[in-house]
Amino acid sequence: MTIGEIARRSGVAASALRFYEEKRLIASERAGSGHRRYPRSALRRIAFIVFAQRVGLTLEEIGAALAKLPTDRAPRRQDWARLSGDWTKRIDEKIAELERLKSGLTNCIGCGCLSIDRCEFANPLDRAGRKGPGPRYWLA
Ligand code: FES
Repeated sequence: MTIGEIARRSGVAASALRFYEEKRLIASERAGSGHRRYPRSALRRIAFIVFAQRVGLTLEEIGAALAKLPTDRAPRRQDWARLSGDWTKRIDEKIAELERLKSGLTNCIGCGCLSIDRCEFANPLDRAGRKGPGPRYWLA
């Protein structure tokens, strides 16, 4: 498949596909014209990458996971199942994070009082900032 066909079918921009290839997450062969040609199985790898990014995996983690797939044949159902099995803990963590976000949205963002006495996200003297950047009370 050409890069345009893969981009249309996967919904991933051609520039992102070239980036994935640069990171060795997907591979193509060069046609006589020099244009990239991807095997149809690249679509499954791209879907895996997109899903993994949504789960919060880094490209390095995704690359390590994809490296477990066989290189001498198209991955089979069992190969993909083994990869997704490794993700259960990560998906559970993501669900917990979303539950905290939902709770915060319901309880605090809609409130906005930031009361030191009752708000769990109150942050006098920026104590949360000592734990690192970002919304520390929402992050696990
Ligand atoms: S903003 Fe009011 S309780 Fe958190």
